[in-house]
Amino acid sequence: MAAGRFLSFEGIDGSGKSTQARLLATALTALGAQVCLTREPGGSPGAEEIRRLVLEGDPDRWSAETELLLFTAARRDHLEKTIRPALARGEVVITDRFADSSRMYQGISRGDLAAMVDALHSLMIGVEPDLTILIDIDPELGLARAVARKGPEQRFEDMGLDLQRRMRAGFLDLAAATPARFRVIDGARDPQAVAADVLATARLHLGL
Ligand code: ADP
Ligand code: TYD
Repeated sequence: MAAGRFLSFEGIDGSGKSTQARLLATALTALGAQVCLTREPGGSPGAEEIRRLVLEGDPDRWSAETELLLFTAARRDHLEKTIRPALARGEVVITDRFADSSRMYQGISRGDLAAMVDALHSLMIGVEPDLTILIDIDPELGLARAVARKGPEQRFEDMGLDLQRRMRAGFLDLAAATPARFRVIDGARDPQAVAADVLATARLHLGL
């Protein structure tokens, strides 16, 4: 897409994506890289407003289709206002979730919208990260971590163990089907051990 590097973290709720995104940003900054640490849904002022609409309130607030449009609108704004400008400046963009989250959550959990997700992606987004790190953990562990952290953003985290299991399997299938872009890292270890793997993977894959 441009001079910078584009890396995403993916995984089920509570897998440790945010923790690892932060640790990687700190490590790469210490190595002298200019890093843009961001997240989805959100990552730009407009997309953060949409984040509140999709993550807070009644679980039945939106239909699956409306929700997909909101996530896509947020992603488009994030791309225009944050990701593309940072890449144009030559920065390393690290995002906590990107389009694979829509492929999994809207494509699998909120109705079978997989074809619509792909169509909207190619119409409105059209880019993939250079590297996607999938933090893989047992859903029981993810749920325990996510519940311990309980905040106002509960619309998705209330979705239960069965769905988290399907989500984990879906992410692993997607990683296996897209081996050039994905690396899977075991997240069921202490954060520093996971971070060491993440840093080595990012440096190797992105030439940093
Ligand atoms: P995610 O962004 O994938 O939902 P977070 O990074 O927010 O995950 O982590 C969820 C919770 O689990 C947080 O309270 C965090 O401090 C904790 N946590 C993150 N990584 C680990 C780890 N490797 N071991 C134990 N707890 C962790
Ligand atoms: P996030 O804040 O990353 O949750 P967590 O830290 O628990 O992983 O994301 C919030 C929720 O939004 C998460 O349950 C996944 C969901 N989501 C989608 O359903 N589709 C999307 O495209 C994105 C980016 C997130």
